[in-house]
Amino acid sequence: MRTFQQIAPLRAYVRGIRAEGKSVGFVPTMGALHDGHIGLILRAKNDCDLVVTSIFVNPTQFAENEDLDAYPRDLRRDQQIASNEGVGALFQPEVDEIYPPGFETVVDLPKLSLLLEGAYRPGHFRGVATVVAKLLNIVRADRAYFGQKDYQQLLVVNQMVRDLNIATEIVGVNTVRAVDGLALSSRNAYLSPTERSAATVLFRAIRFAEDYVESGGSAAPHLQSELEELIAREPCASIDYVALVDPESLIPVESLADRLTLLALAVRIGKTRLIDNSLLASPGLPPARHRGTRG
Ligand code: PAF
Repeated sequence: MRTFQQIAPLRAYVRGIRAEGKSVGFVPTMGALHDGHIGLILRAKNDCDLVVTSIFVNPTQFAENEDLDAYPRDLRRDQQIASNEGVGALFQPEVDEIYPPGFETVVDLPKLSLLLEGAYRPGHFRGVATVVAKLLNIVRADRAYFGQKDYQQLLVVNQMVRDLNIATEIVGVNTVRAVDGLALSSRNAYLSPTERSAATVLFRAIRFAEDYVESGGSAAPHLQSELEELIAREPCASIDYVALVDPESLIPVESLADRLTLLALAVRIGKTRLIDNSLLASPGLPPARHRGTRG
């Protein structure tokens, strides 16, 4: 595995690979690699000749009240995992390489960025869109891979790529879960053993919602209050939002009938904020559109 801290040599290397007619897949990360990231890397490896992974804890996507310094970092371990999983080039820039003195331009999606996560994390998606635009421009991969767990991030990235005519194809990859259903996330590392078992409440809520819709339930406000009650029964949990929304616009829906609805959850378990989601398909929708946790 080749490692790069500077943009210019990474670009030259990727350009050389593409000049040989080989395809390039890109997996952007903030490190603290886990099986969810490995799923992205393996998918990229399956689709492309070279996998490029970046490890960059992007300061601009942390809101003012969020602790950037406490974000889990272990570069040695990440390098080992990336190399074992077949990453061909690892990009691990310092902050100044990405945001040199005088850096000014931002990428902002004023509508999508204010909903759900954006309402709780001011400036978060501006930071994400800006750094992802830069990384896609730097790497110029054929495809870039993002997890469905961060559903709104995937929506923001897709919209940005369309709007800015970025040539990289964006691929969404299914959420990887622990055996008890907890979606894998670097933030799970903050959970105490008691909190770790309480954190399964997000998946329990998802399963409840899937069962409700599969058995023909269609009243979104009713389902929402059932889910809020289910989560509130967990003593360590406090809800930021339980939302039933249109999967494209993220606007709340009233009825779950004859449609696909995104259930999006943000719940604090102790001090750790976790998100998860599921696409709920009403009975009778064509199978290709049915993408719930039961796959
Ligand atoms: O999902 C993440 O890890 C980050 O938001 C990303 C896409 C690497 C941008 O910093």
